[in-house]
Amino acid sequence: PTTQSRNVVWHQHHVDQAQRAQQKKQQPCVLWFTGLSGAGKSTIAGALEYRLVELGHHTYLLDGDNVRHGLCRDLGFSTQDRRENIRRIGEVANLMADAGLIVLTAFISPHREERQLVRDLVGEGSFLEVFVDTDLAECEKRDPKGLYKKARAGEISHFTGIDSEYEAPQSPELHLRAAEFDVAELVEQCVRALQQRKVIA
Ligand code: PPS
Repeated sequence: PTTQSRNVVWHQHHVDQAQRAQQKKQQPCVLWFTGLSGAGKSTIAGALEYRLVELGHHTYLLDGDNVRHGLCRDLGFSTQDRRENIRRIGEVANLMADAGLIVLTAFISPHREERQLVRDLVGEGSFLEVFVDTDLAECEKRDPKGLYKKARAGEISHFTGIDSEYEAPQSPELHLRAAEFDVAELVEQCVRALQQRKVIA
């Protein structure tokens, strides 16, 4: 059902994103980290958030494993469920950016189509795709949660990179070669990119 058929009408409130952002002295945006399981998405996003807060910014980090304990606890890892997972997170991230925050998200988000839908929702210029590029062999070597081992043993099915696809971004705003640098250097690469884009001063 469409919003029209349900008689749902958008209400324009008095305070808008520009005012909320001005109060926080920052340009709200969504930093969308994508990459394989074990690529370093959460670690880098978490360290970047720490740095941004240190610089006085207002942020929120939405993280895969955590969101799947609450907002998306009913979803698994089928293509359809992953799509719904990303749709919900995209909507929440967009609301938080509307609240004036710099939002960081760390989800595998394996499909280009879903990432594009979020980009369209948030708006070009406010959506920065960050490709955490760590190849499968390295992720599998790290295997921090032992999930690759289980996937190889057939104990987990539809595991990204093993028997479920990952579509790498074709033109991400930021391409982090995550295995080649330490976390502090990767954070600095992100900070410089945010400064160049005038998200932060
Ligand atoms: S997705 O594809 O964006 O909906 O996935 P996401 O919400 O980021 O969740 C990924 C984390 O869930 C764990 N996990 C799996 N990942 C991939 N495939 C399968 N089948 C799977 N089952 C469980 C895994 O710990 C992922 O965590 P990260 O932080 O990415 O390593």
